Amino acid sequence: MTIEQLIWLGLFLLTFVTLISFIWVFAPYFPTRKGHLELIKKVANLKDGETFYELGCGDARVSIALAKAYPKANLIGLEMAGPLFFYAWTKAKLSGCKNIQIKWKNIFWQDLSDANSVYVFGMTESLNKKLKEKFLTDLKPSSRIISYVFTMKSWPGETKTFMGEISDKDETKITVYTV
Ligand SMILES: C[S@@+](CC[C@H](N)C(=O)[O-])C[C@H]1O[C@@H](n2cnc3c(N)ncnc32)[C@H](O)[C@@H]1O
Repeated sequence: MTIEQLIWLGLFLLTFVTLISFIWVFAPYFPTRKGHLELIKKVANLKDGETFYELGCGDARVSIALAKAYPKANLIGLEMAGPLFFYAWTKAKLSGCKNIQIKWKNIFWQDLSDANSVYVFGMTESLNKKLKEKFLTDLKPSSRIISYVFTMKSWPGETKTFMGEISDKDETKITVYTV
């Protein structure tokens, strides 16, 4: 194979992987509103040494905000879409926070048994069941699921709702489920 053919093959594979990672996602990319980060920081209330996962971290704005607010907690952002992973990874490196890791990974392939809290934005109807099963299998008792906007049906444990607003037109609901 010539160098030219190798370059074309490389470009083709890169485009293919990027397209697949955008298509094979549980939710399209839509970031948490920056104005809601303060409420999320309060609701997360991470203790020293605790581990927090952001499932489908997008540009990692939530993980980075929490890494700054809770420097002694461990923040892990998982993102499957290649370009978003790379963007989030770069942002996390530039943030200077030492307590954050961004992984290029499908959330369903990650063992969450060391998590104290997980954050999810994108629990659509079709995903609800799959995620709920994963949470109940992986998460240890007393760990928490912080769900932005979306809610989960018939959760067996404690459920608390927090409302926050940036302006009259921009309120949000955060639901915390305890295992
Ligand atoms: C609604 S966005 C939320 C982004 C970010 N958590 C935030 O709140 O700003 C959902 C993200 O999950 C990612 N995603 C979807 N399915 C995934 C999967 N199976 N594994 C990892 N990431 C996934 C998408 O690429 C997208 O970036």
